Amino acid sequence: MSETVNLESSMDAASLRRAEEISAEVKEAIAEDASRFRMLTGDRPTGRLHLGHYFGSLKNRVALQEAGVDSWLVIADYQVITDRDSVGEMQDRVRGLATDYLAVGIDPETATIFPHSQIPELNELMLPFLSLVTDAELRRNPTVKSEYEASGGRPMSGLLLTYPVHQAADILFCKANIVPVGKDQLPHLEQTRVVAQRFDKRYGRPKGAKRPVFPRPQALLSETPSLLGTDGQKMSKSRGNTIEIAMTPDETAKRLKKAVTDSERHITYDPAHRPEVANLLEILALATGRDPNAVAEDIGNGGAGTLKAQVTEAVNEMFAPIRARRTEIEADPAIIDNALARGIERARDQAADTLREVHEAMSMTYL
Ligand code: TRP
Repeated sequence: MSETVNLESSMDAASLRRAEEISAEVKEAIAEDASRFRMLTGDRPTGRLHLGHYFGSLKNRVALQEAGVDSWLVIADYQVITDRDSVGEMQDRVRGLATDYLAVGIDPETATIFPHSQIPELNELMLPFLSLVTDAELRRNPTVKSEYEASGGRPMSGLLLTYPVHQAADILFCKANIVPVGKDQLPHLEQTRVVAQRFDKRYGRPKGAKRPVFPRPQALLSETPSLLGTDGQKMSKSRGNTIEIAMTPDETAKRLKKAVTDSERHITYDPAHRPEVANLLEILALATGRDPNAVAEDIGNGGAGTLKAQVTEAVNEMFAPIRARRTEIEADPAIIDNALARGIERARDQAADTLREVHEAMSMTYL
């Protein structure tokens, strides 16, 4: 490979600051003219979406859609088979994820929702893209490393090693220029830009084209601090510590009642010394649009019981319309059928166009 790009360094402090700066500039540009932007982001269908997803990404996606950004959402079903075991049939998880998307306000008329397994031309981009990366580069990718560590010592599959390239295909096939993601995904975006840049360097543009085949997509970083689960650990479905969008108000109350706090009665917002209490205060603040210090002061000597009761009420109130909509969608499977059919059709059209351009640039057109 002619250029040496160190993907590991993409997570050092300076690169992170740079990513934050670019992200802030992109936000300003969106506010000025959203029509210049196409966002692509998505999720692995591993289980129901929860409060962490809601504040960390879903809410922001809906806001971008409403600002007029062309929104593309990939349901990364092939990525699920890279490493982890998930609960339940893929079909139910994919449809459940699409249901969560529509329930929170993603509009299938304007947004394109598609499972990437259904877009052959997107997946085919893996072949030319794989020729542009080295195995050493992939082995150094911090996200691949941590996924591998999380898989409990199972040998690394070829798909896990190359999944950043697959993610590049998810992003580049539709020529997205913005990708709303968490910091953990920054190395993938760097890898995606490297693929785009090397493709252009090696093959240039198709004849007569004004622009390079692929844009250089930028990350749009979430401003919400990552929330902990009700046990004070990282929020994760397998730990049973999440508040899911699809839960009933009673299930929500039960889970929050069991939330870990501490032995100090007086409620204060002190993330460094009282992480569990601070986390509940952050959820309450986010759900009510208030400041965590202010909600802490109001509760004061009311203690953890009052805090939990208020969090429960606020979360249930916030999710009430979303849950009502979710129930409606579940009662009418045609809603999801139609949303996916539309999304798959749009994504296939786009992927076929892009693959044609790629073949033209590579001189792989024969008839
Ligand atoms: N890898 C992402 C995750 O683990 C999901 C994903 C797949 C994604 N393809 C993407 C995110 C493209 C952003 C852009 O959550």
